[in-house]
Amino acid sequence: MSIEIPDGLTELLQSFTVEVLRNQPGDLLDFALQYFIQLKENQRGSAFDNARDSANGRPGDNVSSGRSVNFAEETMQLDSEDDDEEEFVAPVINRFLRRSSVCAEAFNPDEEEEDKDPRITHPKTDEQRHRLQEACKDILLFKNLDPEQMSQVLDAMFEMSVEAGEHIIDQEDDGDNFYVIERGTFDILMKADRVERVVGSYDNQGSFGELALMYNTPRAATIIATSVGALWCMDRLTFRRIIVKNNHKKRKMYEAFIESLPLLTSLQVSERMCVVDVLSSKTYSDGEQIIAQGATANCFYIVESGQVRITMNTSKLKKEEGEGVEEEVEIAMCTRGQYFGELALVTNKPRAASAYAVGNVKCLVMDVQAFERLLGPCMDIMKRNVVSYDEQLAALFGSNTGIHDNDTA
Ligand code: CMP
Ligand code: CMP
Repeated sequence: MSIEIPDGLTELLQSFTVEVLRNQPGDLLDFALQYFIQLKENQRGSAFDNARDSANGRPGDNVSSGRSVNFAEETMQLDSEDDDEEEFVAPVINRFLRRSSVCAEAFNPDEEEEDKDPRITHPKTDEQRHRLQEACKDILLFKNLDPEQMSQVLDAMFEMSVEAGEHIIDQEDDGDNFYVIERGTFDILMKADRVERVVGSYDNQGSFGELALMYNTPRAATIIATSVGALWCMDRLTFRRIIVKNNHKKRKMYEAFIESLPLLTSLQVSERMCVVDVLSSKTYSDGEQIIAQGATANCFYIVESGQVRITMNTSKLKKEEGEGVEEEVEIAMCTRGQYFGELALVTNKPRAASAYAVGNVKCLVMDVQAFERLLGPCMDIMKRNVVSYDEQLAALFGSNTGIHDNDTA
């Protein structure tokens, strides 16, 4: 009796086995489930978006933020090309495009191995180094680096001037550099269903271009300068040697905590790991202000340890009464595992309340671009919470304040 092996079965099982061996999942069945669901989603996405390329099995087909991946072929290719780096395909959710895309989780398991690559150094004047340090001081991806790593990062960066209209990154290109903004404004554009749309922007601060370098994927978006500007760039090798390795450590450190967060239950395991990659830990001392009511918002926070007091200025609560005395009233307390600072990012309004550290506090912080890109599936939980904010204010101040009436629209 001859048994016919269906086309693709060998490759399918091979790629799956490679991923299992690489990731050593605790729960094999759960891993298999995620793997095959993702594979199916990718297949659907590519049929929808790019049937031609998918049929050719070309790695790097784009869906929404990036691409649909022919998982089997991608894995085989990476195997032969890039032996010392682990790749795992994981989805990234984009709030604007609402369909999952993928990114390959990349980390170097040989983190203790000595670096063989030569260190890259671009000499700088004191003035340049000062400007670079200023531009980098709030970059979340750098926050967890030790001083030696940070110094290597600064050494390796080089300056680039840009003109209005210049394409810094084109979606689907290979990743060369990571960019930190010193000054200038930039639009973020993404193609979906062959239509390109502006999905966000940077205004004189922030960084971009990390995804293609972290996950070995094509560029997930196009970045165009909308003014003259200045960027600091880091080459791919340095980025992978320092930032990606550091992310591997971060994953180990925060995996259990992130898995325990109710907010992130709608995310797949691999998506939760992408969240860890973009989080950085910030500490605050007793009484320090973390958020100021009325300020422009650019971050989202999860309490890692300690307590955070949320307060609101009473002028906002009692404006119709025209009362003279303003005071800050405590409206909530956030403890380990709880989040805050989402409201202004979801509503695009200024901060609705202030936040202060009570004792020593550690928070995990995510920037607005990552929040929008990764936490789309958690929006329902956040919206339910916003409804409870008004109930919370009503309980404290006797009547419905109506402050959040339009916030869940
Ligand atoms: P990368 O894919 O390397 O290149 C394009 C960059 O755009 C990407 O990294 C991110 O840094 C940035 N970006 C900003 N917003 C988004 C988004 N919503 N989806 C994907 N990339 C984004
Ligand atoms: P954001 O407006 O971005 O910054 C202040 C944060 O306080 C807000 O997001 C919420 O996360 C949090 N918060 C907690 N309770 C309330 C409330 N009743 N009204 C508004 N914000 C609240």
